[in-house]
Order: sequence, then C-alpha cells, then structure tokens
Amino acid sequence: MNFAVFASGRGTNLQAIIRAAKKGKISANLALVVSDNKEAYALKRAKRAKIKTIIVEAKNFNSREDYDAELVKILEQENIDFIVLAGFMRIITSVLINKFRNKILNIHPALLPSFKGTHAIVDAFNYGVKFTGVTVHFVDEKMDHGPIILQGLVKIKENETAETLEAQIHKIEHKIYPEAIRLFSEGKLKFEGRKVNKATT
Ligand code: GAR
Repeated sequence: MNFAVFASGRGTNLQAIIRAAKKGKISANLALVVSDNKEAYALKRAKRAKIKTIIVEAKNFNSREDYDAELVKILEQENIDFIVLAGFMRIITSVLINKFRNKILNIHPALLPSFKGTHAIVDAFNYGVKFTGVTVHFVDEKMDHGPIILQGLVKIKENETAETLEAQIHKIEHKIYPEAIRLFSEGKLKFEGRKVNKATT
C-alpha cells in the first residue's frame, strides 16, 4: 500500500512517521509528501528522506473543489491508496473525501469532540481543563468530526504553560500517529457505525 502525507508546516509528525517506517513499524510505503506551502519545513524533511514532494498552492485555483480535484489527479497518478493529514491547514472538500472515503486520517491536538479548530491546544489550556490529549480520526465532510481511531491522554500539570503543554501533546502525537497508520494499513481497524475497533483476528 502506498500513502501520501499532507503537511503545511514544521512536519514533526511527518518526521515521526518517517522514523517509524524506517524502523519497520509501518509496512505501507510513504510514497509522497504534498504541501500547500512551499516554505513548509516538512518538505525539507521529506527531501532528506528521499521522498517525492509536490507543492500545490491554493492561489492557482478558483475554488477549494478545483484545488482538491488537482490533488485527486496527482494521487491517482502516484497510485496512492490512503492519505495522512499531518498539520495540513486546509479544509478539504467532498471532491477528495468521496474518492478516499474512510481512507483519510487526520491528527488533532485535543480530545475530540472538544476543542475543534486551529487553536486546540491553547483553547483547551485557557479553558482550564485538567486533561486534554490527541485524537487520530478518519476525515469526513465535517471538520474534526469523523470516526475516532485512537486517542492519547495528556494531564495538565500544576505549573503547565501553553508551551509545555504543546510539547507534551507533540510527544503523544508522535507515538500514536504511526501506530494508527500501522493499524489502518494492516487492515486491523473495523467499523461499527461510527465506532472504530481494533480487529481481533
Ligand atoms: C499538530 O499538532 C497537529 O495535531 C495539528 O497541527 C500540528 C502540526 O504539527 N493539526 C491541527 O491542528 C489540525 N486541526 P507538525 O507540522 O509539527 O506535524
């Protein structure tokens, strides 16, 4: 199985995935890294690991649908079987979702359905929650909404700051995202309605 990682920024999750793949913890082939941001540090990480990169900039398209249609074209050309969103800061449309139904994974830095959106870590911290965490889920048409694959828990410490919390969150992300990719790519996830269970066989 071939997969693509989509990333807009630093790409620390991408790096964790590359590391896991190198160690043989993920057997699927990371064939492509796609970014909407030509400055994304994630692209440097991909190049260093000799992974093909493609930049698709939003300014060249009239609508989100046109943008996603271009992504579909690329993904089909590259024989991509599933997609991993790792800090890809764009809303994706049904043009892409319909072609890759239940084959797009996303990571969100909070315990969904709490603290959706782009500032989840700070939002949870400022809200005063005692626990927050990380969610890996399938992508559907609603933002931060699809079936949950794995979650990791983070306890807010007494002297926590938004910065130390962010570091805790990333540490958990880098552990559970490769694991979710492994489970998915080995066919070990089973749907029951919107519940995703680990297959026992
Ligand atoms: C991660 O913390 C991820 O959970 C978050 O972006 C960060 C990307 O970091 N995604 C979202 O907030 C999506 N709503 P990275 O570029 O270092 O992997």
